Amino acid sequence: MSIKQGRRDLSSQEKRWKKPGMVRWYDPGLLAETGLYAGLSTMLGSMIDTRRFLQFEGSDDDCVIREYQGAEELWFDYAADIGDGWDATYTMAYLFSGPRLEPAGETLARGHFLVLGGDEVYPRASRDAYAKRLIWPFNQAGRNLGQMEPGGRTPNADHRRDIYCIPGNHDWYDGLAAFTRRFCNGRTIGSFRTRQRRSYFILKLPHNWELWGVDLQLNHDIDVAQLNFFRRQAETLVPGTRIILCLAEPDWVYGERSEEDLHWNIERFERMAEKSGSKIVLELAGDIHNYQRYEGTRTPGGGYASHPQTKIVSGGGGAFLHPTHSFSMEKEFPEGFKCENRYPGAGTSLWLSLGNLFFAFRNPGFSALLGAVYAALFWSMPTADFGWRFPLTHPGSASLILVLFLVLWQFSDFRTRWQNGLWGLVHTACHVSAAYLVWRWLPAVLPGDLPWIVPRTAIFAAGSLAGGTVFGIYLLLSLNLFRIHENEAFSSLRIPHHKHFLRFHLTQEGLRLFVVAADRTAPEDGEHPVPIKIIERRTIGGA
Ligand SMILES: [Fe+2]
Repeated sequence: MSIKQGRRDLSSQEKRWKKPGMVRWYDPGLLAETGLYAGLSTMLGSMIDTRRFLQFEGSDDDCVIREYQGAEELWFDYAADIGDGWDATYTMAYLFSGPRLEPAGETLARGHFLVLGGDEVYPRASRDAYAKRLIWPFNQAGRNLGQMEPGGRTPNADHRRDIYCIPGNHDWYDGLAAFTRRFCNGRTIGSFRTRQRRSYFILKLPHNWELWGVDLQLNHDIDVAQLNFFRRQAETLVPGTRIILCLAEPDWVYGERSEEDLHWNIERFERMAEKSGSKIVLELAGDIHNYQRYEGTRTPGGGYASHPQTKIVSGGGGAFLHPTHSFSMEKEFPEGFKCENRYPGAGTSLWLSLGNLFFAFRNPGFSALLGAVYAALFWSMPTADFGWRFPLTHPGSASLILVLFLVLWQFSDFRTRWQNGLWGLVHTACHVSAAYLVWRWLPAVLPGDLPWIVPRTAIFAAGSLAGGTVFGIYLLLSLNLFRIHENEAFSSLRIPHHKHFLRFHLTQEGLRLFVVAADRTAPEDGEHPVPIKIIERRTIGGA
């Protein structure tokens, strides 16, 4: 089924590029840059909201796609959090683009369209990042499947399908500039073509179903123009319409875990639908890079409303894996939701978290930064008077320890300040102790007549190893004992495997969901890249 494509079909850029690996989140330069862009975009986003300009782009009708409505049956795909390492994104692009999937003897036809539910690129949106981390692997999948025109950059009309995207926070880090250029202008991505004119849309589906894609910007904010668009469209709903709501972030999860009032966004869409005698029967969100299916545990009444609502976290499109063992499936959310299934399993997730023991080797840049701190901590130590009190009595060392504590206090991820203070203090004490041991041990084992630079360099190197290891153990304990630092303890691992996406089949009988997963992603070799499996089959919302 696949055709290996020669280098002549690569664009001149692609010939020059090296395939990007998974983003190194702990690289000190990237940390500073991402922090800066995240801060700036959050601050400026409320003042200069790109959506205010987008509302003048086309009419409401341009944001309502009706052409799928008349179909007898419809296949479509949903994935979120893609555009990280090349291998993982290529693997998923190949699965979206292939004419069919045949896991375990079952045949799943290719989707008529693909919805990407946020975070289409990492670490932050830019023309280059989209081109290298999203478009290139999609183009290559199209080429290897023989779906592209000669030249390898535009899809053959027979193989072309539609793609719709809502932006996540990483797409917003440049104020949505690259997103609108890429996704709101009728351009192609591999064998897919963009259709939307704004960052939100409605897809009218057969058998009285609709899919609503909502742009939450940063800070879970829905602008007035967008809200009015959905209100106007909700007023025209045929009673009994069943709606799939796509948000970039699972507000129901974040609202619960951070105890903020994030349910408001979902509630107002639910009220809009109910006013017209319709109902949101399925909510999809990314941002958490794994699979979690939540089901309503209470039935509100008889008839149509008695179908329990399903909420799915599905962020397995290509970005680094997030843990699944860090939350309890026994817990019931106040609104009456419980997690019924997750992927990968908790055992796998727990096992993978042990990779943090090798943090120093996986994140050498950050570990070197810690090595520099270790070297600086005792830099002025008089060799003749080296006791444990030295760092507390020497002004330079004591100041550095104070700064280290303040940083680690801020970094700690508990809900209360005193917990963060306490855990930050323990973390700081571990680093200072490790630095002390390095400074005591290394000069003792090295020959005494070496130039001063040699032992200090050795201390920096040993400090990098020790500092990275202490930091990795801190993440490991934080995650597995206290269920905090879910993001930090897995972004450190940059795991490209255990990816999944949702394939839907809509017919008169209802909406059938297949959760397609790949335990491993593999380098592109021109063949079907990885074995896949279906981890779940369900009918959503009833007939
Ligand atoms: Fe993400």
